[in-house]
Formats: sequence, C-alpha cells, structure tokens
Amino acid sequence: MTGRHNFIIAIDGFSSCGKSTLAKALAKRLKFAFIDSGAMYRAVTLYFLKNQIGLEDDAAIEQALVDIHIDFIPNTEKTEIHLNNEDISDEIRQMYISDMVSEVSALKTVRSAMVAQQQKLGKRRNIIMDGRDIGTTVFPDADLKIFMTADPSVRAERRYLELSAKGEQVTMAEVIENLAHRDHIDSTRAESPLRQAEDAVVLDNSDMNQEEQLAFVIKEYEQRKASKSAI
Ligand code: DC
Repeated sequence: MTGRHNFIIAIDGFSSCGKSTLAKALAKRLKFAFIDSGAMYRAVTLYFLKNQIGLEDDAAIEQALVDIHIDFIPNTEKTEIHLNNEDISDEIRQMYISDMVSEVSALKTVRSAMVAQQQKLGKRRNIIMDGRDIGTTVFPDADLKIFMTADPSVRAERRYLELSAKGEQVTMAEVIENLAHRDHIDSTRAESPLRQAEDAVVLDNSDMNQEEQLAFVIKEYEQRKASKSAI
C-alpha cells in the first residue's frame, strides 16, 4: 500500500460485461467519482474519424493527442463526456465507434496519453474506474480490483438489447461479431492487454442481477476499507 489516502476501485473485464453499470451504481452508493476509461478511447476514436486521421500516420496522431481535450462533466442525471467542449456521450456509443475503438486503443501513443490522464484523475479523489488495464497498468496499487466476466451469449444479448433500445439498427450476429473481435484485439494487443491482475477478485455475473453484483462488491469494499483504515 502507498501513502495514498484516497480509495481506488479498479474494474476490468471483457466488453459488455456490465462494468459501467456496476461502476455507476457503486459510485452512487459510495459517493465516489466514476470514470469510464473506455469512453476516453471512444472519444479519441471519434476525433480520429471526424478528422480523418489514419492509424499509421504517427505525426498526425501525435498532434491529435495534443489537440484532444476530454472532460467528464457531472450532471444531475448522468456524467457527460465532452470532447473539446462538445457533449459526445451518445455519439460514442454508436456501433461505428465500437467497430474501430479497439484498433485505436491498441496504439501505444494513444494509450500513454490516456493512461497519464487517468492517473491524474485518481490522484486525490476516491474513484471507481472501469476499463481493461486499470488494475494492471493504470492503478496497479488500487485498493480493490474486480475482474468481470460473463458468458459470451449473455453479454451479446445484453448489448443487443441496449443498442436496440436506443433505436440502433443492428443484428444479433453483428453484435456477436463485434464483441468477439474486440475481445480478441483487447486481449492480444502488445500494449497492456486485457488480463486479470493477480490480486483481482473475479466476478462472473452471468447469473447475477444488479443488486447481487453490487452487494458482492460492497462486501469486498468494506473488508478492504477496514484493513486500510487499520494501517
Ligand atoms: O469499455 P468500452 O467497451 O467502452 O471500451 C471501448 C474500447 O476501449 C474497448 O474495446 C477496449 C478499449 N479500452 C482499453 O483498451 N482500455 C481501457 N482501459 C478501456 C477501454
């Protein structure tokens, strides 16, 4: 344990395991800040697409990373994510972003820039951050690490329902394909691939509802909080 006084919860896992849903509920319950690190990679992807930045164009990428400003703006309803002062919260959830985000987030320069920002966000506040490398790379000293997983068919169905509810025209086959594609790139890339930290607690939520998941993590939190306070 470091001399840090704030409490950091890292939630990692595969795409569409319900990481953000759980992290949001947890943040509300514990009154912690919540940072969706995937949203940051999605914001960068949107910027690259809008500005036609090729993934091999190192100079353009470097400049883009200087020009990109991402902010999380807490709102009464939800936290908005802004890219250069524009609310892009809904846009970045669209399928055309999901289709490209793993390629963008596999780039070393992109990861270094995002990880540095994420680490800054966790300097003083109590936070919950979800993503793929939070417990391994961003906050290897996190106070509680959760690794989420679920049956692929359960994940695909959840994502399909989520997208359909938003009116997006997608087929179940496209969703399955996108999840498999992202899992593959996210777990095999050279730069901080998705993997379970040795000290992470596994949460397989295939057969769990949201209340059960919340109770599971709160219990882990209470235990660690007690031992942290005892130091
Ligand atoms: O959590 P999400 O589906 O919104 O994340 C979008 C993509 O961003 C995901 O395919 C992998 C990448 N990502 C990452 O590489 N590292 C993180 N910490 C979070 C997300």
